[in-house]
Amino acid sequence: MLNWLFHKDKQKETDLSHLGMDVHAHIIPGIDDGVETLEQSVEMLTKMQSLGYKRVVATPHVMWDCYKNTPDTILHGLADIRLAAKQAGLTLKIDAAAEYFIDEHFVEMLNNGEQLLTLPGKRVLVELPYSTPLMNTSETLFHIIAKGYRPVLAHPERYTYFYADPAVYKKLCDQGCELQLNILSLGHYYGESVHKMAITLLKQGLITFIGTDSHRIQHLDLIDNCDKNKWLTSYPFQNKFLLQE
Ligand SMILES: [Fe+2]
Repeated sequence: MLNWLFHKDKQKETDLSHLGMDVHAHIIPGIDDGVETLEQSVEMLTKMQSLGYKRVVATPHVMWDCYKNTPDTILHGLADIRLAAKQAGLTLKIDAAAEYFIDEHFVEMLNNGEQLLTLPGKRVLVELPYSTPLMNTSETLFHIIAKGYRPVLAHPERYTYFYADPAVYKKLCDQGCELQLNILSLGHYYGESVHKMAITLLKQGLITFIGTDSHRIQHLDLIDNCDKNKWLTSYPFQNKFLLQE
């Protein structure tokens, strides 16, 4: 009779199947600040599948000061999580790319023509520092394009130094960069100003992809429960078009 006390005040079931795939997740254990064990990877993949994803691309950090990941470390990790997911009976497709921090090492890799791990369509997921702007963001993005790749900037809404001149976002897009929003920015996980910028960028039509940027199961639980459906269903994210590539 006290059932109502335990009723979870949750909006309707989260269904992300219209997105098709997640393009940003830290689900390879032990190689960045994401999950630490294979069990945690499988737990996250299980949750992703139950949220409706049919495909996920693991994107470990490549940030030379902290995470010296290479195609080798990442693809070994991919093989491990694919096997564990199969053994757990999961059916979602799992691939790997990387989230490249734009540092000297990244520029060196570009210059040397080293292999970059990409999202479908030779898209390179890149991130910028959170605290201070890079002097040469624009040049580096041009450089990526000149090398035959397509830059996708991870969570543009989180670089608060851009807020003083929001026109920069449109300039990045005009330059050939695609922008990837984090789902949790639609809730208030990163704070009110990030949330506001996320909505502004959506309203301006500047966002191409949306990702979980999930590092642990709690992020997926928050995504499941946060107030995001209005935006997720009304904005034409392009994730599903990558499913076939
Ligand atoms: Fe990330």
